[in-house]
Amino acid sequence: MDLTPTYHTTPYAAISPSLRTLSQANRTVLITGGGSGIGLAISSAFVAAGAARLIILGRRQSVLDAAEASLARPGTEILLEQVDVGSVAGVAALWARLAERKVDVDVMVLNAAITSAVPDLVGEGGPEAVAAMYEFNVMAQLRMVQAFLRQGAKEGKVSFGVSGRVEAGLTVAGGG
Ligand SMILES: NC(=O)c1ccc[n+]([C@@H]2O[C@H](COP(=O)([O-])OP(=O)(O)OC[C@H]3O[C@@H](n4cnc5c(N)ncnc54)[C@H](OP(=O)(O)O)[C@@H]3O)[C@@H](O)[C@H]2O)c1
Repeated sequence: MDLTPTYHTTPYAAISPSLRTLSQANRTVLITGGGSGIGLAISSAFVAAGAARLIILGRRQSVLDAAEASLARPGTEILLEQVDVGSVAGVAALWARLAERKVDVDVMVLNAAITSAVPDLVGEGGPEAVAAMYEFNVMAQLRMVQAFLRQGAKEGKVSFGVSGRVEAGLTVAGGG
């Protein structure tokens, strides 16, 4: 039995970002790793949904520049932030810059993740390899959520995790 008879490579009508009910007008959206792959597709959908401002995070400036060029659309301001989400100092500096510019994030999409195979606990690397993945997929994400929440409560403020591994980690760490 074919459990997935149809594969979509673009948003279909029911979830189209152009639907008025999904409008992101007047909203500021921050996407980690929003410059390539699935993150770029997410960035593109938020631009199509009319987000007022998109903040794209990534480590390579060339990837961010290319994303900006491909996403440019009147009505959406694009801010590029060359940040390693795994860097405690880098993330702290990012949120300090946003505070300085009075940028309040409405929607945060935690897309960047370490998605390689789960390390073999009993094999090469052992606990250290597991710890490295945990550090990024759990701790780094928690630091982003903490900074996001520290901006203060606001109607409609929401954070999403794209990777199941990140979500699982946050569920374990956050208890819900
Ligand atoms: N690919 C799949 O089949 C698949 C399936 C289901 C879910 N997902 C989930 O979708 C998400 C994206 O997957 P993908 O395949 O599109 O990933 P990808 O191709 O590896 O892209 C990751 C993006 O995140 C950025 N990034 C990576 N590490 C970063 C860091 N430490 N700090 C800041 N930016 C960082 C990368 O740019 P830089 O390298 O320049 O930093 C890149 O733009 C992941 O959460 C993954 O678990 C993927």
